[in-house]
Amino acid sequence: MSAESIQMIAQEVRSCTLCGLAAGRTHAVPGEGPADTKIMLIGEGPGYNEDRQGRPFVGASGQLLEDLLGMAGLARADVFIGNVVKCRPPNNRDPEPAEIATCTEAYLFRQIEAINPPVIVTLGRFSMSLFLPGERIMRIHGQPRKVGSRLIVPMMHPAAALHQPQNRPLIEADFRSLPAILARAEAEHVAAKPAPEQPKPVDDRPPEQMRMF
Ligand code: URA
Repeated sequence: MSAESIQMIAQEVRSCTLCGLAAGRTHAVPGEGPADTKIMLIGEGPGYNEDRQGRPFVGASGQLLEDLLGMAGLARADVFIGNVVKCRPPNNRDPEPAEIATCTEAYLFRQIEAINPPVIVTLGRFSMSLFLPGERIMRIHGQPRKVGSRLIVPMMHPAAALHQPQNRPLIEADFRSLPAILARAEAEHVAAKPAPEQPKPVDDRPPEQMRMF
């Protein structure tokens, strides 16, 4: 069932024209991975290579991501890899708030609901801000936070380790801690059991404006 939903969403993404990014893309990048995975990784948006191939993390960041997954005892095929926005912003500029809002409501949040992973690894600040608004990545990277029924694990974007080599040991240590985090999430059955009461808001917005995962 969830595999069908994931495929259906991917089809919608490929023909999406909901925002201006559609005009500049070669291929939309819906994301990929098993629908029954326990871990979802969420990057920022497609870059040059991803736009060409229609697949997430296939350039230099992708090679590093595969190495990092290996340090966690995982292969690319074990996890779902997606992005905040599904089309490449021109010249790799930051995605705009309206683009993020449109794309996440239309696709990413539905992908999360379909897969229902106990663990979400956010890669970079745009992805982190969806779940932990107002936080700073250098302060909280690698520290799992319970948000709704899941553990959110904020991590640096792999590109940050490519561009600033001093970040590499930090991101490697964070990935090495993933198996223990996954074990904790599964032991708590965080995805299987809805929280008995409303999760605490992670920022000051009124609860009706926040999405609870
Ligand atoms: N960077 C991202 O954030 N996502 C990709 O898919 C590739 C590079």
